[in-house]
Amino acid sequence: MTYAYPSTPVKSRVREGKFGEAILPAGEQPGPVYVYDAATRIWHWVTMLSIIALCVTGYFIGAPPPSIGGEAAEHFMFGYIRMVHFIAGMVLGVVFLMRVYRVFVGGPHARQIFYIPFWSLGWWKEVMDEALYYLFLKKPKDYVGHNPLAHLAMFLMFVLPTIVLLLTGFALFAEGAGVQSGWYKAFGWVFTVIGNSFSVHTWHHVSMWIVIIFSMVHMYMAIREDMTHRQTTVSSMISGWRFFR
Ligand code: HEM
Ligand code: HEM
Repeated sequence: MTYAYPSTPVKSRVREGKFGEAILPAGEQPGPVYVYDAATRIWHWVTMLSIIALCVTGYFIGAPPPSIGGEAAEHFMFGYIRMVHFIAGMVLGVVFLMRVYRVFVGGPHARQIFYIPFWSLGWWKEVMDEALYYLFLKKPKDYVGHNPLAHLAMFLMFVLPTIVLLLTGFALFAEGAGVQSGWYKAFGWVFTVIGNSFSVHTWHHVSMWIVIIFSMVHMYMAIREDMTHRQTTVSSMISGWRFFR
């Protein structure tokens, strides 16, 4: 798969190699590349905001603050905490489904993190090369989309645990809504698959921690790569364009 981006002058176009590596035009300033479309960018930032809201409210659900005196109905504080958690959870779920739709219609960069070329030895070699770069044993390479190590981390530490978070979250919500509810009819099977309510809570927690660890490392890497690499990073998730210096 070799892509040329028509919006940049023919001579300074950056091409994309088999594993997403950037093939820069020799001897001249490479033009910018449009990588992430508006749908992916809006999804990214909405997802980030919902995850922050879910972490803060989830923390209080898991470790509730001491009770406030008086009638519960007069302040309803814990109710609001749970309500924000459920609204943010539903936003996360809806935009995730919309993002899955983009996998089919959004082109190669919208597809990347939902699929890993597991059977390609060449791709695993690129993952190793990137790991060796982080160990200061190899020079960094430039990529048009995600570098292969980031791609692997996004699949294993974001896409898969987010699916678990959504399924367990909606199952717990269904439990609260009651076994007669439509929610339970849609998500009650999660209890059968995972075992019982306690295990569903545990899976909700474990996948949460994987996504939190991913997010912290990811933010550090995004800013660090922007400063240390020839390619820009943060701009690609704000304007969609990646520049090469
Ligand atoms: C990044 C995403 C999420 C994080 C960080 C998160 C975090 C948490 C935490 C820490 C708890 C407390 C668990 C416990 O007491 O065992 C919790 C409970 C819960 N979460 Fe999430 N959650 C996320 C996504 C979701 C989603 C998508 C839903 C679906 C609506 C959801 C619904 C629930 C429900 C229903 C509970 C139990 C509430 C209760 O028992 O009062 N969560 N979540
Ligand atoms: C909860 C926090 C966050 C989560 C879960 C998250 C998740 C993700 C995911 C899944 C992607 C891949 C997008 C795709 O290919 O469809 C991505 C890309 C990206 N994110 Fe985040 N993100 C978070 C916060 C941030 C923050 C705060 C920044 C800015 C410093 C950031 C900057 C980027 C950039 C620049 C990319 C594109 C990387 C590249 O290919 O160069 N993210 N993020």
